[in-house]
Amino acid sequence: MTGFKGLKMGASHRPASHTDTPSSAAHWSPESWQARSVAQMIDYPDRDALDHSVAKLSALPPLVTSGEVERLTELIAQAQEGQRFLLQGGDCAETLDDCRPDKITAQLKILLQMSLVLVHGLKKPIIRIGRFAGQYAKPRSSTTESRGGTTLPSYFGDLVNASPFDAQSRRPDPERLLSAYHHAAVTLNFIRSLIDSGFADLHHPENWDLRFMEQAGLRPSLRAEYHNMTNQLAEALQFMEALGDGTVDELSRVEFFTSHEGLNLYYESAQTRQVPRKTGWWNLTTHLPWIGERTRGVDGAHIEYFRGIRNPVAVKIGADADPSEVVRLINVLNPDNEPGRTVLVTRMGAARAEKTLPPLLAHIADSRRRVLWVCDPMHGNTRASGADGSIKTRHFDDILSEVEMTIDAHARIGTNLGGMHLELTGEDVTECVGGSGGITEADLSSNYESLCDPRLNYQQALEMAFLVARRFGT
Ligand code: PEP
Ligand code: CO
Repeated sequence: MTGFKGLKMGASHRPASHTDTPSSAAHWSPESWQARSVAQMIDYPDRDALDHSVAKLSALPPLVTSGEVERLTELIAQAQEGQRFLLQGGDCAETLDDCRPDKITAQLKILLQMSLVLVHGLKKPIIRIGRFAGQYAKPRSSTTESRGGTTLPSYFGDLVNASPFDAQSRRPDPERLLSAYHHAAVTLNFIRSLIDSGFADLHHPENWDLRFMEQAGLRPSLRAEYHNMTNQLAEALQFMEALGDGTVDELSRVEFFTSHEGLNLYYESAQTRQVPRKTGWWNLTTHLPWIGERTRGVDGAHIEYFRGIRNPVAVKIGADADPSEVVRLINVLNPDNEPGRTVLVTRMGAARAEKTLPPLLAHIADSRRRVLWVCDPMHGNTRASGADGSIKTRHFDDILSEVEMTIDAHARIGTNLGGMHLELTGEDVTECVGGSGGITEADLSSNYESLCDPRLNYQQALEMAFLVARRFGT
């Protein structure tokens, strides 16, 4: 994520084109989605204020460059060939308040450490992608929430409204589109600076891992295994450098890419640009936007928007997905079957994966569509906990078991599992139960911070990386 390219700035707020044709050959513009039915539509009460924010956002500089997006597309194409593995992780919902250096650094560190564990186990380079610098919008199962006789709009993430349960906080506020953009920009700026200043230089893992790992209450055997591994990595790098191997630079250079759910199409389309000397349109708010399980209807507004951009696009696929519908979806999003452009993120749930995954894998394989298969073992495994069922949690064993089933299903069908998508944090929260730290349901309230789904904490996330890496090795 280095090097800004000259981009055409200040694309104006363009009028919607009105077409109802679902055909992928139909005219497309960044706003043609507005003629379609929008799942998870936000009802902004002040339309003038919305137009004002969208126009302002359209004129601001892009957050990422088309060159970075092309680079990620290339890496994903290699992962589709089994040469790389993708690790995507971060908060379920980023909040504006959490835009703090300690929080961002902890997030980068856990992703980096997990990727080292995975490199070691899988023996292939890892593509690191954060759910950050824009993961501010959340789909909800209900548009409203009722408490004690009062009904208000649900909390749709900091991009839309605020979480406290009062009318003022829950009113969708278009100013937040700008505020989220600015928070995404400072988050990215900090990440770019950390990387540029050698924060994650693999030649010296001893400089950045020790103190953090002492603080984070890690099981001693896991810490020892981790140290052993990073020392081996450092030695291997030194050895290759001594031999004058030209690939060392590439191996030791750490890249991070950004991703978020492209849920709020006002935010996404306002930052969709054309770039000098390149064809097509680019979503320059993130490298890898994804389409959620609730918004992937093939004739809906989200697919209409996403079929027109050059970015790689990920799609979440749940247990109720019809495999032929998924092929239709891929054909609309990537009609020329270009490499590196389509990522399918399965999130079946441990209880259903064994039954639902193999027919899906087989059907897509038969269709000869080029996809990268990624496993999200989080979103099919959420359970209600607490006396009144109001606390959401996930069990470490369910999460691990879905990854294991997914690895086995791919092995049986002959497809390639090329990545893992997790909700995690580098902090010591108590949101998921299980793991060797022994978090129980009774512990959940001690440090539960997520405003949305429960995340693996630091120890659980690192442990998951070890277990998955080992499983791949067997
Ligand atoms: C998410 O990734 O936070 C999410 C809402 O996922 P899904 O669309 O798979 O439910
Ligand atoms: Co989530």
